[in-house]
Amino acid sequence: MHGPGPRLHGAIALLVLCLVSASARPAPRDDSLYRAFGGREGLAALMADFVPRLAMDTQIGRYFTSTNRDHLARQLAAQLCEVAGGPCTYEGPAMAPAHAGMAITKADFNRLVELLQASMAARGVPFRAQNRMLALLAPMHRDIIERE
Ligand code: HEM
Repeated sequence: MHGPGPRLHGAIALLVLCLVSASARPAPRDDSLYRAFGGREGLAALMADFVPRLAMDTQIGRYFTSTNRDHLARQLAAQLCEVAGGPCTYEGPAMAPAHAGMAITKADFNRLVELLQASMAARGVPFRAQNRMLALLAPMHRDIIERE
């Protein structure tokens, strides 16, 4: 009778070792999206383009008339950095309280997404990275939109 043989034993031992070491260490952070946006500098430049677009927009600009734009740009850069797997922590209010009482509509939300797309394209963010970011932000609509 032949057993499984030393090669198979070796392979199994290796597999077990991999599983054990993978569970012992935290998974390395995937910061590929953060890097595709050019890191902190890229995100700061993106927000320097995006926030004025918001404020000047004929459809949603009125929401931002009394907004501190530098503050908003910094908060958004930190939030997108965190969402993209970068080394940042967004420390501002959660999306529901941050937008409560503004009566933001679905159309307003879609308009903001269009403006963000325009900024990402203007900054040369690769299309796939644009879409990955939008997919991460999209679920926030539940906390931001208050009416049809
Ligand atoms: C995915 C979509 C959105 C994200 C990620 C987002 C993110 C943020 C963040 C991080 C802040 C800063 C909160 C703070 O520090 O107080 C903020 C504030 C704000 N957002 Fe949004 N937002 C989104 C959609 C919208 C939309 C659709 C509107 C309106 C059309 C809007 C209007 C505002 C306004 C007016 C403020 C407050 C600025 C102020 O303090 O005066 N946001 N948002």
